[in-house]
Amino acid sequence: MTNIAVIVAAGMGLRANAGSTAPPKQYRPLNGRTVLGETVAAFAAHPEIDAVQVVIHPDHEDLYRHAVEGLERLRSPAMGGADRMASVKAGLDALSKEAPELVLIHDAARPFVSPALISGVIAAAAQRGGALPVLPIRDTVKRIDAAGVVSETLDRDTLRLAQTPQAFRYEDIVVAHQRAAADGLSFTDDACVAEWAGLPIECVTGDPNNIKLTTPADFESTAPAVARPQLITRVGTGFDVHGFAPGNAVILGGVSIPFSKALKGHSDADVVLHALTDAILGGLADGDIGHHFPPSSSTWKDADSTTFVTFAAKRVADRGGIIDHLDVTVLCEAPKIGPHRDAIRQNIAAMLSLPLGRISIKATTTERLGFAGRGEGIAASATATIRLPDTHE
Ligand code: CTP
Ligand code: MG
Repeated sequence: MTNIAVIVAAGMGLRANAGSTAPPKQYRPLNGRTVLGETVAAFAAHPEIDAVQVVIHPDHEDLYRHAVEGLERLRSPAMGGADRMASVKAGLDALSKEAPELVLIHDAARPFVSPALISGVIAAAAQRGGALPVLPIRDTVKRIDAAGVVSETLDRDTLRLAQTPQAFRYEDIVVAHQRAAADGLSFTDDACVAEWAGLPIECVTGDPNNIKLTTPADFESTAPAVARPQLITRVGTGFDVHGFAPGNAVILGGVSIPFSKALKGHSDADVVLHALTDAILGGLADGDIGHHFPPSSSTWKDADSTTFVTFAAKRVADRGGIIDHLDVTVLCEAPKIGPHRDAIRQNIAAMLSLPLGRISIKATTTERLGFAGRGEGIAASATATIRLPDTHE
C-alpha cells in the first residue's frame, strides 16, 4: 500500500505575522529547523509514509529549498492556489501519475503532529476510506448574532474540532476535489469536501498538541515546542584501512582514481565511504558497518559502498535526524587526492542529497612512516556531525 502525505504550505500566514516583517509562519524557525521542515520531517520519518508532496507559494521557492534541506522522500513541490482548497487540489493533481492508495492531507502550520496520530488516521482510512482527527470542545459554545448578542447555546457534546492530517483514498478525494472545483464550491477543509461528496469519514481521537500555529501568541508560547523532542547534536567517528593489490585504479568516495594498484577488500574497498558509514553509525550509536553488512555474507562481495553510506544516512532520517557535516581525512603517500577532492565531495553530496558545503575531504601523507608511509595501503578517518531528536535514551 502506498501512502503519500500532501502538506499545504502555500499560505501567506497573515494572522501570525500581524504586520511584522518575519517570513511567512511556515518558514519561521522551530527546533533548529523551520515549521515546515519539522512538519515534513514528521511525515518523512514515519515508517508508513512513502513520500511527501509539499504545496508552496511560487514566491517561496528559495525559502522552501532551505527549509527541506537534507530531508528525504520529497516529491518536487507543487505550486498552490488562491485558497487552501485550491492548494490541496494542486497537491493531489501532482500525484496523478503515481496515484497512491491513501493520501494524508496536512497543514504545514501543524508541526507538532505525532507519529501515533499519523498511524491512527492511516489505519482508520485504510479500513473506512476516510479519517479525520477530532477533539471534543471543553467550553460551552454560543451562537451569536451580527450585533454580538447570544441567540443560542449549542450542544457541545455533538460538536468536534477538526484537525489534520485527514486521510482519504486518493482516487475518491481527487474526484471529489475536481467536482467541487468545477462547481465553484469553497470548503475550509478536505473532510468538508469528502462530506459534500458523500464519502465515508471516520473520526479518530485528535491530539491537543497538534495545534495549527495561527497567531503571534502561538509563536510566543513554548509549550508545544517542548512537546516535541529537541534536536541534539551528536558526533561520530569512523576509521578504515584497505591494503593494496594489483590493479589500475582505487575507488575513493565512489570516484575511480587511476593508479598503479587497486585496494583489496570484500566489497569495492572504498575506505572513504567505509569510514564515513562508521562515523554516521557512530553518531547514531547504532553498531558499525560490519554489524549491518557482515563480510561473511556473500551478498556484499564486490558491493558498491554507496549502499553502505546511504543505508547509514537513511537511519538518521528514519529517526527524524539530519546530517549537518561530514569530514574525512585520507592517509596515503599516493595517489594524490587533491586533484580528485571536488569530484569526491560532489559525489558524496549527490549520493546523500546534501549540500556540497557540508562535505569535507582532506588528505595527508604519513611522512613515509607506518603502513601508509610504506605504500602498503590507504587509511581514512571520518567525523559525522548529526542532529537527532532527544529521546533521553
Ligand atoms: N494554505 C495553502 N494555500 C493557501 C492558503 C493556505 O496552502 N492559498 C495552507 C497554509 O500554508 C497552512 C494551511 O493551508 O499551512 C492552513 O491555512 P492557514 O492556517 O489559514 O494559513 P495561512 O492562510 O497561511 O494564514 P492566514 O490565514 O493567517 O493568512
Ligand atoms: Mg488562511
